[in-house]
Amino acid sequence: MNLPDIIIAVDGCSSTGKSTFAKLVAAEFGLLYLDSGAMYRGVTLFAMEQGFIGQDGSIDQAALQQAIGQLDLHFERQDGATKLHTGARCIESEIRTLQVSGYVSPISAIPFVRSWVDERLHAFSEGGRVIMDGRDIGATVFPNAQVKVFMTASEEVRAQRRLEELVAKGQNTSFEEVLANLRERDYIDSHRETSPLRQAPDAFVLDNTHMTLHEELVWMLGLLQGKFTLLEGSLSC
Ligand code: DC
Repeated sequence: MNLPDIIIAVDGCSSTGKSTFAKLVAAEFGLLYLDSGAMYRGVTLFAMEQGFIGQDGSIDQAALQQAIGQLDLHFERQDGATKLHTGARCIESEIRTLQVSGYVSPISAIPFVRSWVDERLHAFSEGGRVIMDGRDIGATVFPNAQVKVFMTASEEVRAQRRLEELVAKGQNTSFEEVLANLRERDYIDSHRETSPLRQAPDAFVLDNTHMTLHEELVWMLGLLQGKFTLLEGSLSC
């Protein structure tokens, strides 16, 4: 199925499977996948490494604001995937630790961090043919995105999926710890003042609590065929 030059926004709570879904859709339809959460995680790792986050979790916002101008975060294609880099260093696995997850929501609630990330997301998306996942992509970053998906799943299913991901990466954690982090992030993400997690009014809801990835792709194909009625096609998997 050939898609026109479009932007697809995929938003939703933590661990609803947005990135897995968006990566699959990107591969299926030949789109560039951009993970906006990775950018917030990259800023968080930077703040941690620069010593801008205190033992008590307090953030030295003035120091971060001064230093962020020198931060180079960008995506590079490696082994068929887009991976976040700072300079020549790949930080894809470092940004996924529970420690970074513990600080990323307060960092992403800072208005100057959000505008810094949004500017880069716009620059990376020039030319279109992009699928981007996050919390506020359809509602705020790309309100004119041609296709908007809002993903949901039950809290327990989300925590279990995230736990399996972390354990597979060798991280030592428990269901309770993961569930607590997920609840806390959802709360901060949806209650912050600047650009909270929000379902765009024209977004299509995808509840994948009881869905396989293949079923999600079939759902997406149906959505795209409905929107772009001239195009016909089927999935390659
Ligand atoms: O999708 P993720 O869990 O990797 O995102 C990490 C954090 O970044 C999440 O807690 C909320 C924040 N985020 C955001 O505020 N806006 C986005 N567009 C994407 C992520």
